[in-house]
Amino acid sequence: MTRSIRPLVAGNWKMNGLKADLAIATEVARGYDAALKAAVDLAICPPATLLFPASAALIGSRIATGGQDCSVQPSGAFTGEVSAAMLADAGAAFCIVGHSERRTLHGEGNATVRAKAEAARKALLVPIICVGETREEREAGKALAVVRKQLKGSVPEGLDAASLVIAYEPVWAIGTGLTPTADDVAEMHASIRWDLARIVGKAAAAGVRLLYGGSVKPSNAAELMNVANVDGALVGGASLKAEEFLAIARACAG
Ligand code: PGA
Repeated sequence: MTRSIRPLVAGNWKMNGLKADLAIATEVARGYDAALKAAVDLAICPPATLLFPASAALIGSRIATGGQDCSVQPSGAFTGEVSAAMLADAGAAFCIVGHSERRTLHGEGNATVRAKAEAARKALLVPIICVGETREEREAGKALAVVRKQLKGSVPEGLDAASLVIAYEPVWAIGTGLTPTADDVAEMHASIRWDLARIVGKAAAAGVRLLYGGSVKPSNAAELMNVANVDGALVGGASLKAEEFLAIARACAG
């Protein structure tokens, strides 16, 4: 944790959730009590089809919503794409960009991720830019260098601390139940904050929320959230269970 930074726990529902699953969001809202509200921000990133009803269901809860991806284009003949302005219009405050599933399964490189982050900013969304190394890259001792390159290529210059969130998600930790050691997370997050200073300036970098993501569960959240420079979590699987998501939020609240 960074004492001066208000943490954020964001749930990434991925391609999960039908209308009936809005009950998960309302259950999270019920459990977001005064003590939690005082300590931690929450966001839920449902699939695009549920963004509007989820945002409506969460009005008054102080829980934000976010998209999971956006088009680099503002509008036009791009069948199947969803623009950042559409996400904002549906109630989103955030947009995840550069998730490893997008980078790997959809071939998105750093330049595309950066363009998406810029498109999100234009629509006044806060991009949650994801970075992270593969298992092979970590084993080859290249994790810090790989993430440095991703940051350099994916993060737009000139953003202030409130307009940017970074999520460090080691690819090999996503959905696998594996997590890096606290020492490895500390080393990576310190390196990310250092690298960010070169992109957005030292003052902004000092205030940017650096989330850890990859198999965050109630059982490991306290340990991961206690690591220096970890200012919250990006949660996949466990965000689909209200009680688990709330337990992670409580761990983050300390
Ligand atoms: P996981 O996913 O928590 O299920 O590992 C994290 C993510 O992909 O954001």
